[in-house]
Amino acid sequence: MVKKNACVFISGSGTNLKALIKSSRNYNFPINIKYIVSNTKKATGLRFARLYKIPYVLINLKNNLKTEQLFKELKKHNISIICLAGYMKVLKKKFIQRFKNKIINIHPSLLPKHKGLDTFNRVLKAKEKITGCTVHYVTDKLDSGKIILTKKINILPGDDNAKLKIKVQNQEYKAYSEAIYSIYR
Ligand code: GRF
Repeated sequence: MVKKNACVFISGSGTNLKALIKSSRNYNFPINIKYIVSNTKKATGLRFARLYKIPYVLINLKNNLKTEQLFKELKKHNISIICLAGYMKVLKKKFIQRFKNKIINIHPSLLPKHKGLDTFNRVLKAKEKITGCTVHYVTDKLDSGKIILTKKINILPGDDNAKLKIKVQNQEYKAYSEAIYSIYR
């Protein structure tokens, strides 16, 4: 199978990036991760880029010149899909249009519920019984693009923010890879 080249955008611990790298080692998995973008050098997930020897760049896309440079880099690496994995910046319209239907994201709730930040606290405050994660296409409306796949978990008495995060993220690692399989099926 000819795999597509993917770029993963991160800002934090990169555990979803790690899960995607692991999946990509399977010869059936439709993508290879060829490039990693972070908006901050503080992203501890960059250690996976170093560990697996994947080229990465630190970039601040507020700057138009930087955006153009990134377009060139993505072209150079023949990137045909961008996976946002804990990327904490909102992408500019221009960027999203350039990669229309080629940018996907994972969000730690059952969208359209609980878009945006501080998701687990809001889920708990809303006394939800069920939550989960959603993989979706990225549009210029935050966390609102077409849903590709969701995975659910039950919220149990005693689940706090930290417990919920672990339970949801364990589902995320499976959901992201399954969503990518489903895109190329
Ligand atoms: C994940 O929970 C994802 O849903 C959200 O940000 C978190 C990123 O975690 N968008 P990690 O950087 O992949 O560990």
